[in-house]
Amino acid sequence: MDVLLDPWGAVQVDDYSKLFQEFGISSFDEILPRMDRPHAYMKRKIIFGHRDYWPVLRAMKEGTPFAVMSGFMPSGRAHLGHMMVMNEIIWHQRQGGDAYVAIADMEAHAVRGVSWQRCRELGISEYILSLIALGFQPGGHIYFQSQNFRMRDLAFELACQANFSEMSAIYGFSGETNIAHMVSVAVQSADILHPQLEEHGGPKPVVIPVGSDQDAHIRLTRDLAYRMRRFLVEERDGYVSVRGKAASPELMEAAAEALKGAGIGRIKRYSEHIDLYGGANLGEVEELIRRVEVEGGEFGFLPPASLYHRFMTGLSGGKMSSSKPESYIALSEDPKDAARKVMRAITGGKQSLAEQKRDGGEPERCSVYELLLFHLSDDEGELEEIYRECRSGDRTCGRCKAEAAEKVRAFLEEHQRAREDARTRLSDYGIKP
Ligand code: TRP
Ligand code: SF4
Repeated sequence: MDVLLDPWGAVQVDDYSKLFQEFGISSFDEILPRMDRPHAYMKRKIIFGHRDYWPVLRAMKEGTPFAVMSGFMPSGRAHLGHMMVMNEIIWHQRQGGDAYVAIADMEAHAVRGVSWQRCRELGISEYILSLIALGFQPGGHIYFQSQNFRMRDLAFELACQANFSEMSAIYGFSGETNIAHMVSVAVQSADILHPQLEEHGGPKPVVIPVGSDQDAHIRLTRDLAYRMRRFLVEERDGYVSVRGKAASPELMEAAAEALKGAGIGRIKRYSEHIDLYGGANLGEVEELIRRVEVEGGEFGFLPPASLYHRFMTGLSGGKMSSSKPESYIALSEDPKDAARKVMRAITGGKQSLAEQKRDGGEPERCSVYELLLFHLSDDEGELEEIYRECRSGDRTCGRCKAEAAEKVRAFLEEHQRAREDARTRLSDYGIKP
């Protein structure tokens, strides 16, 4: 059979390639060969795209500061899709990153009308316990948005740079949209940028692992990060240009002094910009100028990086949706119920057994195969075998589902034991149970 077919490419890629062209997301294929020990999601092309991941990778390799940040809205149950984000956060933390996790209670309250008390309960019981059970280490930061006042101050500051028309264009806000909904957008941007505040060590590469549906948000935040800058450093024809963007005369002066002090290039100074001749190095100038901004009390943000993973198909066909319990497996659900869902899942199998034996199944359209690929098998050889057997018709869906169901059951039992253990250690993470 078609051994040439790539079992990791099994989930349809077509729709995702549009994201590259239309929105400027870069393919993760360019990064992968440069990684020493990529995560399984990377190897299996589940993480398919990124923005600006290079500086993160460099920091990881050189042991310089970087961070990972993401958030969860406590409005329903945490499922396997959320687990992917959790695992990506934990992996970056293990690679030396400072880790930040927002429980987006302000967003859940504003957008979904969830009460504060319910946000707290769901935040802990659904998200935080699983995050810790999966291996999130103390030293990382878990916080509820409503309680992080430094972040909220930053949200206010960012809101000064965003206007109503652009928010409506991105999020479809109308005259009826409540103001808090807009506030929670500014808050999410502040979630993403606050690891770069001075008290967290200042500007650094920060990666945000998310589903591709969150990209609009990443783009907005990258834009806001840029708007908070006071200088624009660019390579021009034969020189490096440092331009003030509403930089005060004092800041312009400090920039000129710093460049002179560092002996970078030949300086030509104008009132609103400085040109550097003689082979000045762009990266070096950028870092120097960023430091001038920070020392002058500004933010000097780097634009946040992002990683995008594919979504799993829902077990009942179509999208995985929190409003359809049959479509997903929740991390806290009864392992036996979860196994039953797998037994009822829509597969890539044929109508009749005879047909299946003759023509083979379609793992690339099978939610059970996806379950194995995304979560249940850490054995590349096993996956390849399942893929091949399915395509050749040697595998029947009944047996395949039974195996996957058993794996789901075992995984959830183990995970739920780890969650109970995590419950006793909440205070290590600054969480009052
Ligand atoms: N808006 C995200 C969601 O709906 C949750 C979220 C809040 C978030 N703050 C964040 C995601 C910061 C990434 C980064 O799930
Ligand atoms: Fe899916 Fe397994 Fe059936 Fe193939 S045999 S279609 S992988 S359930």
